[in-house]
Amino acid sequence: MGIKYFEKERFFKLDTPNTSYVIAIVSSEGFVGHAYYGERIEDVTGIAELMRVHEAPFTPDTNARDRLSFLDCFPTEYAGHGVGDYRESSIRVKTVGGHSAVQPYYVSHVIYKGKKKLEGLPATWGSEEDVETLEITCVDPVLDLQIVLEYSVFADTDSIARNVRVTNRDVQPIFLEKVMSGCLDMDNENFDMITLHGSWARERRMQRNPLGKGVHSVSSLRGESGHQEHPFIALLEHTATQNRGQVYGFSLVYSGNFVAMAQVNQFDSARVMMGINPEDFSWKLESGETFQAPEMIMTYSAVGIGGMTRSLHELYRKHLIRSPYRNKKRPILINNWEATYFDFNETKLLEIAKEASQMGIEMLVMDDGWFGNRCDDNRALGDWEVNEDKLKGGLKKLVDGVNALGMEFGIWFEPEMISPESNLYKEHPDWAIAIPGRTPGLARNQLVLDISRKEVRDCIIDKMFKVLHSANIKYVKWDMNRPLSDIGGACLPADRQGELYHRFTLGMYEMQERLLAEFPDLLLENCSGGGARFDAGMLYYSPQIWCSDDTDAVERLAIQESTAMIYPLSAMGAHVSVCPNHTVGRNTPFATRGNVALAGTFGYELDVTKLSDEDKAMVPRQVAMYHRFNDLVREGDYYRIDSYQENHYYDCTQVVSKDKSECIVTYVQVLAKPSSHSHKVRLEGLKADKQYALSIVSVKPGEELLQKTDRIFSGATLMKGGFVIPNAWGDFQSTIYYFEEI
Ligand code: GLA
Repeated sequence: MGIKYFEKERFFKLDTPNTSYVIAIVSSEGFVGHAYYGERIEDVTGIAELMRVHEAPFTPDTNARDRLSFLDCFPTEYAGHGVGDYRESSIRVKTVGGHSAVQPYYVSHVIYKGKKKLEGLPATWGSEEDVETLEITCVDPVLDLQIVLEYSVFADTDSIARNVRVTNRDVQPIFLEKVMSGCLDMDNENFDMITLHGSWARERRMQRNPLGKGVHSVSSLRGESGHQEHPFIALLEHTATQNRGQVYGFSLVYSGNFVAMAQVNQFDSARVMMGINPEDFSWKLESGETFQAPEMIMTYSAVGIGGMTRSLHELYRKHLIRSPYRNKKRPILINNWEATYFDFNETKLLEIAKEASQMGIEMLVMDDGWFGNRCDDNRALGDWEVNEDKLKGGLKKLVDGVNALGMEFGIWFEPEMISPESNLYKEHPDWAIAIPGRTPGLARNQLVLDISRKEVRDCIIDKMFKVLHSANIKYVKWDMNRPLSDIGGACLPADRQGELYHRFTLGMYEMQERLLAEFPDLLLENCSGGGARFDAGMLYYSPQIWCSDDTDAVERLAIQESTAMIYPLSAMGAHVSVCPNHTVGRNTPFATRGNVALAGTFGYELDVTKLSDEDKAMVPRQVAMYHRFNDLVREGDYYRIDSYQENHYYDCTQVVSKDKSECIVTYVQVLAKPSSHSHKVRLEGLKADKQYALSIVSVKPGEELLQKTDRIFSGATLMKGGFVIPNAWGDFQSTIYYFEEI
């Protein structure tokens, strides 16, 4: 790792273990250009030629007549607006005079060890040994607007974190209409682009298309990252696979409205940008004020998509998640949502807890329905007082009862919401986000609280603290069940209405920060109608996020595949639920549901008292499996071996320990295939010159968890030759194979 400045050449070279990134200052005016991003290069002599600044059109200070064409093809680190670069700009303003142009020029830089916090925003972090940072200060002299481009490199992962801060040094206010978090201009080398798309219960399905000319983008205007599109894109060689080819990955550490785009222009150069969605965004910056844009992560892998994945996993596990649970086994929880929905009382919960505790389940999570008169989803959001008609004797009595069974207790909140039918709404109808004269649209019968307002945040946080202090509560599920709409803030002046979306997101971050400051040992799990806020921003607050309301094992293969392409397995909330599955009606074997959930946080979402004897007997076996393998799953290197989404037949993943001495291979045969051969998969990440003994994991009651075999394989055989998996009889069959070095 390291950042070097080459004074004579005016280069910055940023190195991660396997990648280099080169920034060059060009011309006496100080354009900040992008020279190179890719495999690590020690000697970068001659690299500036890649920027083509000596070809016509000429550098502006030596030949001003073609300034426009210079700007329109110059590979820049941060694109100005309105003065000649006709591609998408990185920044756009509105001055008091009504003008929108901006052009940043280099002024100075500083390189230092460590990394600063981002004011009010989630961001990666690290010690002075782990991280080094470059700040390039630019100025638009006409606007007296300062733009600081910040880059951090990490010693232990091939990722670069960057962000942008904008300060108004003029005496007049200025409006920021667009502030991207970063910009990267590259030659389009026959790239494909990967984006993620989905819906409720069908989150993050992968789309891979050739990157044609024009603008290709994903975005959200929902006030959250959303089910529909995701703050991530990857550009990769057309021939790149899981383990071959060049891949550039980009991920935004932000949970509100975003845009992530790639634009290919007339010269076949590809510009990548991501940041806060400029649509419906305008931020008034008074004289002397600074605006902090969210952090953007860039990763380059020369060894395929899997290399990008493992770099992001390392970065997020080591330098983003802060929770004390980051490197710890999480308690196996049972959540009562799919078991009871709103229809529960303390007796029912204790019944579930009693049965669950005997099976080794470690925590009961009481989901929606415990507060106010919340008997269904039409009411009571905001009334965060325990409903003692439902929970007789109160919350403490219930929690003590659960604790007495040897289990911990967790609870659900939806703090950003308000039901029109609630006491809170009666008291504060103006606290809901709405536009004067326009009835705000309902979704799931609820409105959104204007948590950009401090008094609103204070009130909700107070109510939550009261509940959380009243009993021994170790876990909170923080939900958000509708997107924002009808954007109007009762307390914002007309020229600040464009700030509401971002202020809402900042308000939510501030509330989570306060919650964690008050309860530092709390296990927080974020959630949004399933996985609508599964993003890097939320990982800064919660080490795990509910992945989807769809708990069907087959649907989960797809959802977990694309989620795990970016985020560590330890972050994916995954539970075993009953069949027929409540979302898709599919029946899958109980063992397969457990094997699929093992790739995430692992837990249950069902009424254990109603399980068949056969399934019931399997729960303690699955619990044992979780305890045996969670360290490996949580901390190991993840390899996507084969994908059911691609082959429509079977799914296969592998997790290898850091020292490569053991791995598990999870194989799910989704569809039976008659009259076919056993199937060969090629494993990865093992020691080629060592031998591994095979065991088969069994959750059958009465059997040893590890069924040892006498089969031995060299790492080279498994990786180069492959491993043969027999055909199973029936759909949805799965096996976990365990290889241990001998
Ligand atoms: C959302 C969550 C579910 C559950 C319900 C409760 O849909 O994703 O897990 O908590 O809300 O209303």
